[in-house]
Amino acid sequence: MNGARSATAVAHPNIALAKYWGKRAGEGNVPAVPSLSVTLAGMSTTTSVTFDETLVDDELVLGGAMAVGRPKARASELLDRVRAAAGIATRARVVSTNDFPTASGLASSASGFAALALASVRAAGLDWRADEVADLARRSSASAARSVFGGFVELDGGDGATGAARPVAAAHALDMRVLVCVTTEEAKATSSTDGMRATQATSPYWAAWLADAPQSHAAIRAALLAGDFARVGELAERSALAMHACAMAAGIVYFSPATIAALAEVRATRALGLPAYATIDAGPHLKCLVKAGDAAVVRGRLASVPGVLRILEATPGEGARVVTAEAP
Ligand code: PMV
Repeated sequence: MNGARSATAVAHPNIALAKYWGKRAGEGNVPAVPSLSVTLAGMSTTTSVTFDETLVDDELVLGGAMAVGRPKARASELLDRVRAAAGIATRARVVSTNDFPTASGLASSASGFAALALASVRAAGLDWRADEVADLARRSSASAARSVFGGFVELDGGDGATGAARPVAAAHALDMRVLVCVTTEEAKATSSTDGMRATQATSPYWAAWLADAPQSHAAIRAALLAGDFARVGELAERSALAMHACAMAAGIVYFSPATIAALAEVRATRALGLPAYATIDAGPHLKCLVKAGDAAVVRGRLASVPGVLRILEATPGEGARVVTAEAP
């Protein structure tokens, strides 16, 4: 084995402004529609990977506890792809920590698999470009491909797409803050994978979503490149509601009373003339998009919404990066 045997990478969660929901048929975990997200600074996953000849099996330590079952199997699947590419059979020890609460509704799988992909590629001595690391991360969690890059990032999806992720605009392209309204400490009842599967199988609005989402993505991309915060926010809120409407028609409801109350507050704030917009992922937490200068006042309003437990504030930030790499 050449090069480093151990590497540590840091990655951040991302929030989709143009949502993806559903997978294209076939291999590679490619989304059914294109998406566009913002990578968030201020919340990090740090992951160390050490290939160790003395191990008989991969080991995964998540937040200080030894992981088994599905989380470990998913990490091993990614490590198997890296081992195949590097021509090695050595097992690895993976130690990963989040500095944000995993029940915050910030996709920890996105930052988690982006950090794991980058650390394991580097620890295996592979000199891969960021797009190759993103391709590896996407196979484990599609949204993780976007966290490999910083700023505003798109991920291809749909017929003929390869699922490539690429940066679209730098973090400073919009003077934006994301207010994450945490509404529960519990894990979500339906995983995004299961929710997508049910939606694709039974939602009467699936075809409408497939037809609308690419246009929505293109319009958000254009508004972003024009630096039009209000238009990005308006379209992002619409994309999230279209995704949830499609899922709800299949019986998949991620909203709680606090989600609706926070959405009403965002809209009441907007009616007062403050540009604030909502987006919601596969869970009950609402994320509010605001201009930096309005963040404090909007945060104060959302903090008083019944069911909002606390609010995390994030700025657009950097992509995944290696912080240490060591040869034996
Ligand atoms: O790739 P996953 O399983 O993390 O699914 C992400 C789905 C949404 O967060 C709801 C939308 C998105 O584009 O991130």
